[in-house]
Amino acid sequence: MGTCIITGAGSGIGRAAAVEIGKAGLFSHLVLIGRSAEKLAETRAQMETSSEVELCTYDLSDLSGIPELVKGIRERTGEIACLLNIAGYTDPQPLFTTSVENMEQTYRVNVFAPFLLIRECAKYMRTNADGAKILNVASTAGITPRPGWLSYASSKAAVISMSQTLTEELAEYGIRVYCISPGRCATALRRKLAPNEDQTKIMQPEEVGHIICELVSDSEKCLDGQNIIIRKKNL
Ligand SMILES: NC(=O)c1ccc[n+]([C@@H]2O[C@H](COP(=O)([O-])OP(=O)(O)OC[C@H]3O[C@@H](n4cnc5c(N)ncnc54)[C@H](OP(=O)(O)O)[C@@H]3O)[C@@H](O)[C@H]2O)c1
Repeated sequence: MGTCIITGAGSGIGRAAAVEIGKAGLFSHLVLIGRSAEKLAETRAQMETSSEVELCTYDLSDLSGIPELVKGIRERTGEIACLLNIAGYTDPQPLFTTSVENMEQTYRVNVFAPFLLIRECAKYMRTNADGAKILNVASTAGITPRPGWLSYASSKAAVISMSQTLTEELAEYGIRVYCISPGRCATALRRKLAPNEDQTKIMQPEEVGHIICELVSDSEKCLDGQNIIIRKKNL
């Protein structure tokens, strides 16, 4: 059944995906990555699963450590079947206050870390008949203009493009690449983008987590290579 690595697993959509995937028993090992040990432990406490669960604190903006991180996971848990790039960062700024540091930090977490995780995991991914899966979380902000969110929106456009390119490049290894673009969803990151919003009236992380679980199940073989928009009809 293999190992599934989930970044951003300490909160929001990543936590919801971990809980749902754990319940479905899709993988023998689940590796939950986030910066906060407390938040990861809270996710673990919410999981009902027969899978082995490893909690892994790591700051994904430390790009140089990612190859060793993935190698260690491979050695401890076995063949990698799935990578979920869910972690995300934003510090929304209009153009005139957007700094190089703002662009760099956003791209480090949202684009460069997923790129490195994909590259390193692909080296160890299973090649049996079921193949392996990668799922990247982009955003509707990567598709339509978002004034004031330059670094975040452009980084998510990069995630969409990277996913589509790698879908074709990795097909020969039996690796499917999925890309989802959620609309507004009730999380801490969304609170930074829209501080005054009533989060009880928007999509909840569990709704996105459920769809992620469906996409990474072995029976789903049609929706890779597309930018899958997840947005409630009336929102
Ligand atoms: N909420 C929305 O409306 C919405 C819409 C479209 C797309 N998305 C995307 O959905 C994904 C999940 O975000 P969310 O909405 O669920 O918000 P969230 O609850 O704030 O989750 C963001 C996660 O990213 C992790 N993270 C941030 N910086 C990190 C770093 N340097 N190293 C490791 N982990 C880091 C955080 O983990 P720690 O705090 O433990 O480090 C946190 O668990 C993001 O990619 C986001 O862009 C969200």
